Amino acid sequence: MLKGRKVGVIGGGKMGGALIAGIISRGMVGAADLTVADKDEKRREELAKAYGVRVTADNRDAVRGAELVILSVKPQNMADVLSELAAEAVPAALFISIAAGIETAFIEERLGAGVRVVRVMPNLPALIGEGAAALAPGAFSTDADRELTRQIFTAVGIAVEVKETLMDAVTGLSGSGPGYAFLIIEALVDAGVRMGLTGDVALKLSAQSLLGAARLCLRGEKPPAELRDMVTSPGGTTLAGLKVLEEGRLRATLIAAVEAATRRSAELGGRKQAVFPVAF
Ligand SMILES: NC(=O)c1ccc[n+]([C@@H]2O[C@H](COP(=O)([O-])OP(=O)(O)OC[C@H]3O[C@@H](n4cnc5c(N)ncnc54)[C@H](OP(=O)(O)O)[C@@H]3O)[C@@H](O)[C@H]2O)c1
Repeated sequence: MLKGRKVGVIGGGKMGGALIAGIISRGMVGAADLTVADKDEKRREELAKAYGVRVTADNRDAVRGAELVILSVKPQNMADVLSELAAEAVPAALFISIAAGIETAFIEERLGAGVRVVRVMPNLPALIGEGAAALAPGAFSTDADRELTRQIFTAVGIAVEVKETLMDAVTGLSGSGPGYAFLIIEALVDAGVRMGLTGDVALKLSAQSLLGAARLCLRGEKPPAELRDMVTSPGGTTLAGLKVLEEGRLRATLIAAVEAATRRSAELGGRKQAVFPVAF
């Protein structure tokens, strides 16, 4: 879909770099057709060396003639980048923004009426092709734009589509989700060490247990509660452990964590409150 077309990336940091790796390694875009603009000279050199892409310090240079532009600078840099781009004729490109909390309307207002925007919330495991991303189309994006965006994020994990009003919820769940998982793994490793395992062995067993369980859930053959039943026999070890987790209100704590992160995302975006279609 993108072969032979020019792509510009503004901001080649962690997430921009992960996307570049994903789309280049899958042959979705030729390296010579992809230009990355980044302020950081060292980062530009790294990207040019790793992927053979064109690099530039000039954001406008990266978008000239582009049919797709990925905006992957920090949210606080977006207003400056957009006004820089708007100073020149804005190409008839699809603009994909991954900046947390920046609404499609904000980009549309600054780049000019009718500009095609899709907003995406990816997460950190995109770095290794295991990301979870949600996309929300802007007012002027087409079905083909959404499909292209879906393909790009599928190159670095999975992608689902949601209404833009749910992007704070996505941020609270999957945007912040890896942070929750790291904390859980850290605690399981501590527990394993306390029970006599080495840290190395405890880390492998803990992380793989979560990964394996997650993969079983993603197969979609059985709901998580049924899978849990499969490992919980009456009077058994898992039941003894689960009882402690329920007494410690793990379930309620995780729900409260996602709610707090969702509210914080809304707050950071200057929105009064997040949308909760279902009351807790
Ligand atoms: N990392 C995540 O897990 C994650 C998850 C979801 C969404 N996101 C979103 O992804 C975006 C990028 O995050 P990141 O973690 O990749 O950040 P990052 O590593 O800091 O990358 C941003 C890059 O853009 C460069 N930059 C800053 N201002 C610029 C400008 N005006 N023009 C061109 N380049 C500029 C930065 O250079 P300097 O370092 O020199 O400033 C840096 O190399 C953010 O909007 C964030 O909300 C990230």
